[in-house]
Amino acid sequence: GKGNYRHFMEKELHEHPVVLGDTLRQHIDPATRAVVLPPLPFDPAVVPRITFSACGSAYLAAQVGRYWIEQVARIPVDSDVASELRYRDPPLPEGGAALLVSQSGETADTLAALRLLKQRGQHVLAVVNVSESTMDRESDGTLLTIAGPEIGVASTKAFTAQLAVLASLALGFGRARGTLSAGEEARLTAALLEVPGHAAALLEKGSEIQDMAREVALARDVLFLGRGSLYPIALEGALKLKEISYIHAEGYAAGEMKHGPIALIDRDVPVIALCPSGPLFEKTASNLQEAAARGGRIMAFTDAAGAPALRRFAERVVVLPTVDPFVAPILHAIPVQLLAYHVAVLKGTDVDQPRNLAKAVTVE
Ligand code: M6R
Repeated sequence: GKGNYRHFMEKELHEHPVVLGDTLRQHIDPATRAVVLPPLPFDPAVVPRITFSACGSAYLAAQVGRYWIEQVARIPVDSDVASELRYRDPPLPEGGAALLVSQSGETADTLAALRLLKQRGQHVLAVVNVSESTMDRESDGTLLTIAGPEIGVASTKAFTAQLAVLASLALGFGRARGTLSAGEEARLTAALLEVPGHAAALLEKGSEIQDMAREVALARDVLFLGRGSLYPIALEGALKLKEISYIHAEGYAAGEMKHGPIALIDRDVPVIALCPSGPLFEKTASNLQEAAARGGRIMAFTDAAGAPALRRFAERVVVLPTVDPFVAPILHAIPVQLLAYHVAVLKGTDVDQPRNLAKAVTVE
């Protein structure tokens, strides 16, 4: 049941800390701070390429995974939504790896992509939440997210659990390929292990996000911006808002804004920015400043180090815990989900069962 929560989605949002902890502890030894991966259907030390495929939020988790794996393990990664990949007929290297990401393990397009990739000689690893699902059974190997049942149609805890698995994989691959030192591995696993605690603190901070939600609920269109590994989280913010509040939202890479979407900017379009301090901070902040100069109302998620610069032009700045840039996408996923939730509640939509949507899309 929902316990004391109004909706399954609210309950599931509050499960982030536990789910993240359980999922991370599967692959990180807290004593040695080393990543311990189970036997995989391919050898990450020599695999020539990884092809990611998935749908919806699971695809966006895969997009973050792509940034992580390329950055940490220097493995070439391709990714595509399953409904495209299955008809795209991409050239695939002999002995390549395929990673399918799915909460249900039953999504029709992802399953079709899995079968195609397998038939084309790829070693298939599935990241799924439902053990004994079709994808679990048909893949060459499975890594489970330990998110428990997710009832709300909008993916919340399953999404961050997918990120937790993919972050662990990126670090494990980096070690296997010699692109990540033991010292860096220990530093980044420590950063990951702190995420559940930060997530709990964030959930306590609900009122700032509720205030933001009151303004966003009045908008007809909303723009989400981010760069690097925060770009897929901007897409996730837009997807979640559309899905449950029926407000039109778009996610953009912050640097792409001046190539079109900036034409939309006016007082009526909130611009929600994911802008933690780190190597891409200055670039993102300057994109936001351009939007502010055109009357855009900037609402930014950042950290203590990023806040002063953003406060000069942003209407709202929500300060998240300070973390290593590597784990920032996991942390930023939580407030964008919370924002969508609060907006949907204000709009009075059916949060757990939005119109026209199914929890698992088992037809093409
Ligand atoms: O079960 P799956 O992870 O394969 O589902 C994929 C998408 O249908 C799913 O993530 C969908 O986009 C969610 N409703 C997003 O919140």
